[in-house]
Amino acid sequence: MLRAIRLHALDADPDAFGSTFEDERARPESFWRDRIADSVWLLAWAGRQPVGIVAAVAPPFPTSVELQLDAMWVDPAWRGQGVGEALVDAVLAWAGEQGAEFVSLTVVDGNDHARRLYERTGFRSTGEREPRLRSPCHMRERLRLSLVSA
Ligand SMILES: CC(C)(COP(=O)(O)OP(=O)(O)OC[C@H]1O[C@@H](n2cnc3c(N)ncnc32)[C@H](O)[C@@H]1OP(=O)(O)O)[C@@H](O)C(=O)NCCC(=O)NCCS
Repeated sequence: MLRAIRLHALDADPDAFGSTFEDERARPESFWRDRIADSVWLLAWAGRQPVGIVAAVAPPFPTSVELQLDAMWVDPAWRGQGVGEALVDAVLAWAGEQGAEFVSLTVVDGNDHARRLYERTGFRSTGEREPRLRSPCHMRERLRLSLVSA
């Protein structure tokens, strides 16, 4: 299930992600098992059909207080109806339950729908910018949300 919807996302929106359809389609079963073990994957459903996906990833160090929101995707037929916002809310709720203090993500310049969704749900720019690994002429920016009350 994870492999199918993730490959569908990479195929439908190749510019939105740091990885490619070709790369991930070639990955062995162990790659997908490791991803399930390393991250929490949340799916949005319309009946029995998965229409959205997002991952919450804990960086590989034991005292992490910051989780990363990654791999966000909503089926084009279901966009603009709040599915993305529901997935962000689910990640934030889960991160809070885990005791995380921050959730961060990166968004590529020009992905305005995604950026507005993240800003609407409380993420703010950190000012940290870097070239995207697979296409260094495109920049991505890190946004962060604090779960800790000021
Ligand atoms: C970014 C994304 C997850 C948003 O999902 P969503 O379910 O449409 O989210 P929302 O319903 O909360 O709406 C997000 C915005 O898209 C707008 N929108 C409306 N209809 C839309 C449509 N048919 N297609 C795309 N966006 C639409 C909404 O109005 C909203 O814009 P606003 O914030 O300026 O008002 C989705 O567009 C997507 O999967 N994009 C491709 C993958 C991607 O970019 N992932 C993020 C990587 S960082």
